[in-house]
Parts: sequence; C-alpha cells; structure tokens
Amino acid sequence: MDKIHILDSNVSNKIAAGEVVERPASVIKELVENSIDAGAASITVEIKNGGISYMRVTDNGCGMTREDAKVSFIRHATSKIIREDDLNNIKTLGFRGEALASIASVSHVEMSTKLKEETYGSKIIINGGEFESVEDCGCTDGTSIIVRNLFYNTPARLKFLKTESREGTIVSESLYSLALSKPSISFKYIKDGKVIFNTPGDGDLGNVVLTLYGKEAYGSLIKISYTGNILSIGGFIGNTDAARSNRNRQLFFVNGRFIKNKMLTAAVDNAYKTYLPISKFASCILFITIYPDLVDVNVHPTKSEVRFQDQKEVFSAVFNTIRNGLTGEVLIPDTKLKVEKKYDDDIEEKRVQVEMFPKDYSVAPRVKEAEYENTGINMEAPVKNIEYDTKNYEPINSVKVETNKPNIESVKNLLPPLIIIGQCCLTYILAQGPDGLYIIDQHAAHERILYEKFKGDFETSGVISQGLISPLLVELTQKERNIVKENIEKFQKLGFELEYFGTNSVILRSVPVIFGEPQLKQLFIELIDLAGSDDLSGRSIIDKMLYTMACKSAVKANNRLVQKEMEEIVSGLRKINNPYTCPHGRPTIIKLTENELEKKFKRIQ
Ligand SMILES: Nc1ncnc2c1ncn2[C@@H]1O[C@H](COP(=O)(O)OP(=O)(O)O)[C@@H](O)[C@H]1O
Ligand SMILES: [Mg+2]
Repeated sequence: MDKIHILDSNVSNKIAAGEVVERPASVIKELVENSIDAGAASITVEIKNGGISYMRVTDNGCGMTREDAKVSFIRHATSKIIREDDLNNIKTLGFRGEALASIASVSHVEMSTKLKEETYGSKIIINGGEFESVEDCGCTDGTSIIVRNLFYNTPARLKFLKTESREGTIVSESLYSLALSKPSISFKYIKDGKVIFNTPGDGDLGNVVLTLYGKEAYGSLIKISYTGNILSIGGFIGNTDAARSNRNRQLFFVNGRFIKNKMLTAAVDNAYKTYLPISKFASCILFITIYPDLVDVNVHPTKSEVRFQDQKEVFSAVFNTIRNGLTGEVLIPDTKLKVEKKYDDDIEEKRVQVEMFPKDYSVAPRVKEAEYENTGINMEAPVKNIEYDTKNYEPINSVKVETNKPNIESVKNLLPPLIIIGQCCLTYILAQGPDGLYIIDQHAAHERILYEKFKGDFETSGVISQGLISPLLVELTQKERNIVKENIEKFQKLGFELEYFGTNSVILRSVPVIFGEPQLKQLFIELIDLAGSDDLSGRSIIDKMLYTMACKSAVKANNRLVQKEMEEIVSGLRKINNPYTCPHGRPTIIKLTENELEKKFKRIQ
C-alpha cells in the first residue's frame, strides 16, 4: 500500500463529514474494510459482549511500517487518495482517513502490524486517542487490531447502545454482507468464543451463500448475470420460495461495497411484480460493477449510500436482468415427500406430508434432458403433438382460454409437455410430466393465463370491445361517478363504452369481450373501487384492473372440469411467460418428482 499522508484541507473538506463510529458494528465494518483494502486473503473477526467490551480484527494483508502505523491514527490520514480529483474515481472501500482516528478516540486500541519483508512488527497502544506505547513485537504478517471498552470515555454514546445481544446481532448482519461482498477472502467470525461461520474464500459466491444461509436458502436461488456498456451485474435472485416479509435479504453491492439504494430496491420490486404476493419481498444478492467515475460514493459518512450518474440505465439493467432470470427459470417448487411415523396404541400410522421444497439450483435449474429418456415423450416435439382437438370445446365459465391469440407471439414452453391424469378435490389438475407428477391449482393457473392474455391484448391492440344488445344502466354514487370520469380513458382502453346518465348513473353500451354478462355490473363497480383506491401497492391501475378481470373470469376452485377444460389450462400454461405463479404471487404448480415417488414406495433408498 502507498505511504500514509494527511489529506490537505482542500480535499478533506470535500469529504462527506460525520461520525462513523456509532456502535460496535460500525467499528467492525471500518476495520474489516481496511483489511480488505490491505489485500488480505483471510480476515478473522472476534467479538465479545456484542463487541462492546472486545473486538478484534486480524488480517494477513500488507501490514504497515511503524511510521505509517502511528500516522494511521491521525484524522484525515490515508494512503488511498491524494487529490480532490481522486474522489471521483474511488477504487478502495476507505478514503476518508477518519476511521482509525475516530475509533481510537473512544476506546482502548492495540494494533500489531508487520510488513512481510520485516522480521519484527510494531505494537501500538492508544487509549482515548493518546499514544501509550509503541514498541517492537513478534507478530505474523499483516495487521491485528483489538478494540476494548468502546465509548468508555463518552457515556452519552454508551447509553445510546442497545443490549449486548442486539449489538451482537447487528455486528453479525454487517459481517454477513462483508463476507458476501468478497467471496475470494476467507472470513472467520467468532462470537463469544464460538465460531459462527468460516467462508472458504475460493472466489465462489455460491459457496459463501451456502456457508452463511445453508443449503435450503441456496437451493431457492437463481443465478443471474448481465454485461452492458457501462455496468455488469452478477449474483443471485430468489425464486418465490425465497420471498420474505421484509427486505432483509435484499443485498446490493456496488463495486464490492455493500450499499443501500432506493432506486435499486424499486427495480427489484418492479421486476418481481406479479411473481410475489403484495406483502412479500424478493431476496437477492446483486453485484453491480460500474466504472468508478459513474458512481458517487462520497454521499454519506458511512459510505453506505451511492449515487449513480445514469439512474435510468442502472434501473433498467437491474430490472431486465431479474426479469430474464425469473422468466428463464423453472420456478416450480418440487415437493418432497416426508414420511412421519406416528405411534398410536401400537398402530403405526404413516402420515404423508407434502412439503414445498425448492429445486436445488446446482443440480438442475431446468428439467434435465436425461429425465426424458424412456418416458415416451419427445422433448423436441412441437407442442401440438400433445395438444388435443379443441373443436368441441365448451368454454369454462363462458370464457375460452384463448392462448393462440397473436399477443402470444411465441410458444414459451417453460413447462415440459404434460399429460392430464384427472382432477382432484375439484380444485387441482393432476398431470404427468417427463419428470414426475404435476399438481396444478386450476384457479391460480387459469387466472395467470388470462392475466397474461389480457395484458398482451391490451399492450398490442387494446381490449376488444363488444356492444351490448340492451345497454346496461348502472347506478353509482357521486364519488363513484367522479372516479369513472377521472379515469375514463382507462375504462375506454379496457373496452368500456359508456354514457353519463342523470346525476349519478352511467349507461354501459360496450364492454370488454371477456366479460360474462352476469357479473358485468359487479365487476364494473369493482374496477371503479380499484381506480379510486389509494393503495395500488406499486401497480398501475390498468394492471390491477387487468388482474381483477383475470381473477373474476377465471375458473374457480370446487368446480368440476371436463377433460378438455383441463387440457386447455395446461396447454395455456405452457404458452405463457410465467406459468409458475398467479398474478397475486401464489404458486400455480407444485411438482412431485419421480424420484420422490420411488423413495416413498421404497423402490429406491
Ligand atoms: N488492516 C490494515 N492493513 C494495512 N493498512 C491499514 C490497515 N488499516 C488501516 N490501514 C492504513 O491506515 C490508513 C487509515 O485508515 P482509516 O482511518 O480507516 O482511513 P481510510 O481507510 O479511509 O484510508 C489507511 O489508509 C491504511 O493505509
Ligand atoms: Mg478505512
């Protein structure tokens, strides 16, 4: 590393000012970032009592000369930038030269550091910012910093801390993101004498995820990557199983720095729209690499926020990369059969529990070709080979599944060919695929098909409208009529033609063709409610209207379906962009693999 120097005031004044040492986690973050900047291959972090009484960060990085080690504790002492201009092109995690000075002023610090080429290292003890001693010491290459009794001399800040256990958790969270940010560094984390994790440091992000979150979480991730003109994106996004009720598992890294950014969060939310229920949030670990001069990291003292020069470009790159990842992957959770033994009066009762189990990403993100062998199904066969004659088809609930409309330009075939076995509980369609049993929720599936169709129609040609033989008078409240007036263009786009009548009523002359007469009025009013509601949860009114229409028009649960209706739904699913979840984000399909069935019947172990 370059020699440490004190920044001249011209430069230091340009740096986002503010205290960086708020709590133990901020100390750990600053020390670990220094170790990363020092080129360490392994970093060990140890804390006791939530970090308040003891923190130690040890690295095998470049180390410091004795002179540099002393200077490093002075405010604005840094080896990472020199000129003001350098602030526009920051490649290191640190650049403010303030962390060590700030930490040393509010705790008891002991630093041991040694350059590789030297025999002895230096040990510096500095308490409350005052040097106590500087001496030779025998130590390993790199740097080790112990911080004791944080805020011992600033009781006001000590009081501000949460409980030891909470502070410890915050340290852990911060370390998770640091470990994820650098898969090529081996991180060891010891908390109150217990090793919490130890990442391999082999450069594979997947292995860090496995170490930190376990196999199940890892199995619900989809790998993504994108390379564009100004940025590239890599990492993982979660499938629907990985959704959570908060954003804690949405992690963003820009040029290796863990950051928070509202625009990135919005891009993720938008990309997952209709894939997840409204109250659920996607998981993701996104790495954005962008030219350093196109991103400003000097926004916030803790460097946890960034500003992109071209927000739009970054937004659309993230949005599209996630969307491609979602539509290109099999999102169907496999089901795993678990046999639970229950002993009751010596009678062994076996209960079978069907558990949602995400596909192991590493095994097969798509149905494996080999699994088609001996199934009699030709994987290359065009879809029509297993499609059925639909000439005599009776539309379900007067709504035909019209998947051959021009809006669906290409057959997506995200699902393998499926052969209908029958209906179960008047709600689920059972079908055989090349790799096992598929159980399809008839309402959720039909709803998704209709939603995509309506959306496609809407985007290409608008909804086809049909004149009513006898116009329908709908009485509304004053408020409802105002909503119609305010949103009249949207209603027209959806295929409604109407006239205002009297003070409050409207007369419907044309309606979208998808409407069955009986529910016409009720649905119209529902759409008015929707247009008038404030809570659109990020969706456009039109989009919500489209999915309300899909929901109302779709075949319901507890409805007997004839063979051809089931076939229509299944073949409809094969032709859409996202056959895996309904527009509310619930799953449409679950799968029981042949392997699981064989295990259950003890054909294999
Ligand atoms: N673990 C370390 N290994 C080698 N050098 C370090 C280490 N920690 C700090 N330094 C040196 O001390 C300087 C001051 O560190 P710090 O106060 O965190 O400021 P900054 O990281 O912003 O430069 C760094 O610029 C670096 O040269
Ligand atoms: Mg630093």
